[in-house]
Amino acid sequence: MQTWALWMLPVLCRVSLAALPAKPENISCILYFGRNLTCTWSPEETGDTNYTVRMTYSFGKNSCTAPARKASCSFYPPCVLPPDICGVEVEAQNGDGKVKSDVTSWNLDHIVKTEPPIILSVNPISNKMLQIRWKPQERLLLYHLRGTVRFRTVNSTHWTEVSFEDHDLVYNLTGLQAFTEYVIALRFRTSESRFRSNWSKEETGVTMEEVPHSPDLWRVLGPADVNGVRKVLLLWKKAKGAPVLERTLGYNIQYFPENSTNLTEINNVTKQQYELLLTGQTHCVSVTSFNSLGKSREAVLRIPAVHEETVQCIKGVQARLAEPLLVLQWVSSVPEVDTWMVEWIPETAESAFAALSWESVSQATTWSIEQDKLKPLVCYNISVYPVLGQQVGQPYTVQAYAKEGAPSRGPKTRVENIGLKTATIIWQEIPKSSRNGFINNYTVFYQAEGGKEFSMTVNSHVLRYDLGSLTRRTSYTVWVVANNGAGGASGGTVNFRTSSISVLEIILLTSLVGGGLLLLSVFTLTSGLKKPNRLTRLCCPDVPNPAESSLATWTRDDFKGRSSPKESGNSGNTEDRALKPCSVPADLIDKLVVNFENFLEVVSTEEARKGQESILGGEANEYVTSPSRPDCPQGKSFKEPSVLTEVAPGDAHNQCLGMTEEIYTEFNEQPLSSSQSPEPEPLCEEQAPNPYLKNSVTTREFLVHETVPELSKREI
Ligand SMILES: *[C@@H]1O[C@H](CO)[C@@H](O)[C@H](O)[C@H]1NC(C)=O
Ligand SMILES: *[C@@H]1O[C@H](CO)[C@@H](O)[C@H](O)[C@H]1NC(C)=O
Ligand SMILES: *[C@@H]1O[C@H](CO)[C@@H](O)[C@H](O)[C@H]1NC(C)=O
Ligand SMILES: *[C@@H]1O[C@H](CO)[C@@H](O)[C@H](O)[C@H]1NC(C)=O
Ligand SMILES: *[C@@H]1O[C@H](CO)[C@@H](O)[C@H](O)[C@H]1NC(C)=O
Ligand SMILES: *[C@@H]1O[C@H](CO)[C@@H](O)[C@H](O)[C@H]1NC(C)=O
Ligand SMILES: *[C@@H]1O[C@H](CO)[C@@H](O)[C@H](O)[C@H]1NC(C)=O
Ligand SMILES: *[C@@H]1O[C@H](CO)[C@@H](O)[C@H](O)[C@H]1NC(C)=O
Ligand SMILES: *[C@@H]1O[C@H](CO)[C@@H](O)[C@H](O)[C@H]1NC(C)=O
Ligand SMILES: *[C@@H]1O[C@H](CO)[C@@H](O)[C@H](O)[C@H]1NC(C)=O
Ligand SMILES: *[C@@H]1O[C@H](CO)[C@@H](O)[C@H](O)[C@H]1NC(C)=O
Repeated sequence: MQTWALWMLPVLCRVSLAALPAKPENISCILYFGRNLTCTWSPEETGDTNYTVRMTYSFGKNSCTAPARKASCSFYPPCVLPPDICGVEVEAQNGDGKVKSDVTSWNLDHIVKTEPPIILSVNPISNKMLQIRWKPQERLLLYHLRGTVRFRTVNSTHWTEVSFEDHDLVYNLTGLQAFTEYVIALRFRTSESRFRSNWSKEETGVTMEEVPHSPDLWRVLGPADVNGVRKVLLLWKKAKGAPVLERTLGYNIQYFPENSTNLTEINNVTKQQYELLLTGQTHCVSVTSFNSLGKSREAVLRIPAVHEETVQCIKGVQARLAEPLLVLQWVSSVPEVDTWMVEWIPETAESAFAALSWESVSQATTWSIEQDKLKPLVCYNISVYPVLGQQVGQPYTVQAYAKEGAPSRGPKTRVENIGLKTATIIWQEIPKSSRNGFINNYTVFYQAEGGKEFSMTVNSHVLRYDLGSLTRRTSYTVWVVANNGAGGASGGTVNFRTSSISVLEIILLTSLVGGGLLLLSVFTLTSGLKKPNRLTRLCCPDVPNPAESSLATWTRDDFKGRSSPKESGNSGNTEDRALKPCSVPADLIDKLVVNFENFLEVVSTEEARKGQESILGGEANEYVTSPSRPDCPQGKSFKEPSVLTEVAPGDAHNQCLGMTEEIYTEFNEQPLSSSQSPEPEPLCEEQAPNPYLKNSVTTREFLVHETVPELSKREI
């Protein structure tokens, strides 16, 4: 039994202890001035706990109590009227018992909290100061007040706070920017209180203007006319760091020749530029700006005489892109110069007077601009001028793109000097407006028909490329790509076909045939002198119509449908056909001459056409219809086409001119194949006179005059 009691005792004790409420602690009181004294404590008991708060006031003379269901309790005037020291004690009670807190003591003056104050007015007193008039909502005549102002510029989110001792409820807020709008709020506390009021409602105020800063001044010098008068465009703008909202009313300009006192004034200019006409001598120009408060200091610039050499002190300027900026950096050889003027203008601008942008730089040799502020794909001329006092030195200019793009078109390309194994690719620079960047190099691509593609990259100043080691009688496709930092653009493909016979070979043949002919001629002359008719024909052979030539006949299949109806009619002349080739020596000579001419013509037109084709890509029709050749002086030329047409294909030649057969057949093929160049390129360029065409004429003359050596020398 005893042991049981012993065992039970601590259990009972614990139960009784656990039932008591926790002791209220951390009592905290705030005197809301003129309204109530509110005390809070912790912990707040859950469950059925009642609090009783006992307060002593009038320095302990009186007391009162108040019940509370929560951990908060308020007392009202007249119990709580500062100045006073109050004692506060909290008793927590539940069904099991009571627990009292410690007694806390409160000096009401230390715990006063007021309502937010009211800002009565915000007045600009100067360009740096706003005067704030305010008042508390309460009557606090006996108290010293300590205020705090916070302010920000209207578009900023950053508040700046300034504390002050109150003085007649007026506060001068200083250190502000001129002519700037500020947002202001204010709060305060009584000097002894721990608690500050909440912030007041926000008010705005604008500081006053100030006398304008002297503007940044620049000029564009035009060339002098015959009378030595030049256009000078003055440009100015608000200096960097000048108040943003300064309301300049106008500008005054003054200028005078440097060595004279004849001052010219132009007043009340409202634009930020002015065009002067100055004589050739040195001038001093000044600009001042003014607003309602007064005039700025003057900005002065010296305009050098027309032929004056100005100082050159910039050694180099480098432009580079550093996203998102375009950065310029330069090196000066004169350390005293620490002011610079940077000028930028699109390269292709018509006139600097309209399109120029400029900015002054001081105490630095770098300048940067956001790339977005420059037009993309446009080349800018950027100049840096040294400025020493009023003097402007020699500029240093670089070109730069804020943003490059691939060229919008490729270079115009053509092919010249097509030989057996060589050809020259020639292209033109792309117009500036299409470059979209600095052309770094060109890549020449060429590809034989069905073959591998080759490429070669050359410098941007190279505009031609000689292809070598090509294959004879092969079609090639060529295109040239211009590359800049952002990409490349091809100018389209050009096709050409390498020759199958070289000039040298032609000349060799010509000499051989020519020699033979000469011998024949001599022989014929001696044997046929008595036949004047034949002589005439010999000396002045009937120049055949090439369309009706034997060649035309041979190639007729190739040129299906190309020869004109008239020509085909002629070719059907039966009378002509009746004549037998090689039957009479004189006929043979005629034919030889004619055929030889024909041969040359084929060569020449073929060569000429090939040259044209690579340039013009034109049709090959001309080949048949329009070789213009020197005629017989007597004008008998096309009278007797029979000489030509009488020749049956592959007939006389095999017998009479067998050794040229090979060449003939080659030529038969070639016009066809090269006329089928897959991509005729219609261009309208002037075409160079074809040397081969000339040769054919010369060589014809040679038949009479024997000028072979000279000719071959020239051609080789
Ligand atoms: C009273 O305040 C002190 C310090 O703030 C804290 O450590 C303590 O826990 C609080 N007491 C209660 C019962 O909340
Ligand atoms: C005490 O005064 C403050 C300030 O006016 C008020 O917010 C609060 O509600 C008041 N408390 C009571 C219990 O009236
Ligand atoms: C707390 O107060 C209420 C209402 O005044 C009363 O009904 C309740 O009995 C009280 N509780 C205790 C434990 O005194
Ligand atoms: C402030 O912002 C507004 C609207 O964004 C704009 O219109 C105004 O010019 C700005 N003011 C200043 C001083 O930047
Ligand atoms: C505030 O500025 C006004 C005007 O300059 C001046 O008269 C006044 O004395 C200033 N007040 C204080 C507290 O500086
Ligand atoms: C003061 O501000 C606080 C929070 O900003 C708010 O809870 C409180 O009600 C305000 N008091 C007054 C008197 O406006
Ligand atoms: C002023 O300058 C002009 C032109 O340069 C010159 O002809 C003239 O002699 C100068 N006069 C004086 C007083 O220097
Ligand atoms: C003074 O300058 C004005 C304008 O530049 C000119 O018309 C005038 O002739 C000048 N007078 C003298 C005395 O040079
Ligand atoms: C120029 O401005 C001044 C005051 O700055 C004024 O007295 C004068 O009349 C104005 N002149 C003209 C032509 O507007
Ligand atoms: C820009 O510079 C180039 C090369 O120096 C020049 O040809 C062109 O005229 C300049 N453009 C302008 C607008 O000054
Ligand atoms: C040609 O220019 C392009 C573009 O700037 C560059 O990437 C390439 O390396 C250059 N090629 C040569 C061979 O210089």
